[in-house]
Amino acid sequence: MEVGFLGLGIMGKAMSMNLLRHGFKVTVWNRTLSKCEELVEHGASIGKTPAEVVKKCKYTIAMLSDPSAALSVAFDKDGVLEQICSGKGYIDMSTVDADTSSKISEEITKKGGCFLEAPVSGSKKPAEDGQLIILAAGEKQLYDEAIPAFNVMGKKSFFLGQVGNGAKMKLVVNMIMGSMMNAFSEGLVLADRSGLDQQTLLDVLDLGAIANPMFKLKGPAMVQNNYPPAFPLKHQQKDMRLALALGDENAVSMPVAAASNEAFKKARSLGFEDHDFSAVYEVVKAPEHSA
Ligand SMILES: NC(=O)c1ccc[n+]([C@@H]2O[C@H](COP(=O)([O-])OP(=O)(O)OC[C@H]3O[C@@H](n4cnc5c(N)ncnc54)[C@H](OP(=O)(O)O)[C@@H]3O)[C@@H](O)[C@H]2O)c1
Repeated sequence: MEVGFLGLGIMGKAMSMNLLRHGFKVTVWNRTLSKCEELVEHGASIGKTPAEVVKKCKYTIAMLSDPSAALSVAFDKDGVLEQICSGKGYIDMSTVDADTSSKISEEITKKGGCFLEAPVSGSKKPAEDGQLIILAAGEKQLYDEAIPAFNVMGKKSFFLGQVGNGAKMKLVVNMIMGSMMNAFSEGLVLADRSGLDQQTLLDVLDLGAIANPMFKLKGPAMVQNNYPPAFPLKHQQKDMRLALALGDENAVSMPVAAASNEAFKKARSLGFEDHDFSAVYEVVKAPEHSA
């Protein structure tokens, strides 16, 4: 199966590497060209533009930072739309809002192509291990055809119906995750300031009903003030912003998410945007401390 891959950031690099490892022929493109080199060493070809990748491949996957990147790669000069046509499929796995996804879907469909949104739950390590959870929606036939690729990149994929449902599901999940990270940070600070050992708190949490892989993975690094970027904080804040907009649209009051968004915004303004999202702990600990 020949697959195009647009966007080789933290996630895209790991996902395309998995496709290569499992025998897919992969043609990659990235805005910053140098990030293609490692993939080429593992057997990938390079496309000079998104349009060139789409021209060459029956299926093209994108993993881009945010709505503006997803729109730019689809609509701009040398973009996906220039070469998409009947018989070709475009699968956007970026986390965006339902409107962005729908806009891209409409234009792809007008040109005769098939579109699937397929954002993922899971971070750098699950991407490397092929253990992502794939939240797909759009053209069912394209979903069925993409299953071999999804099986390599993920441990489970869901087909959620019409375009927008994948985006919304992903935003709900990340809204919960961002709020959890803020509550966890407050707990770590409260334990410390009230004279408790933070490692003991981590041990207690890990044995009880609110144990989860995120606390277990990130907690020990956070108490060492260490935030190696797996999920960049700027993307978590983007997801909180998009989830809050979804809440606005549906008149859902979300004061916990709104407060969490403020903490992520503060962390961005203090220079933590490219740290892992767990760096929001720095803001909870010392609101004026900068990166
Ligand atoms: N990291 C995670 O844990 C995680 C988990 C689930 C979902 N996601 C979502 O997956 C997506 C990618 O995340 P990531 O962590 O891989 O992000 P990342 O490391 O920041 O990579 C972002 C990618 O988007 C490209 N890009 C940004 N702006 C662009 C533009 N205007 N035109 C073309 N390309 C552009 C970047 O190209 P350059 O290399 O040229 O900058 C890079 O390839 C995001 O939507 C994120 O929310 C991430």
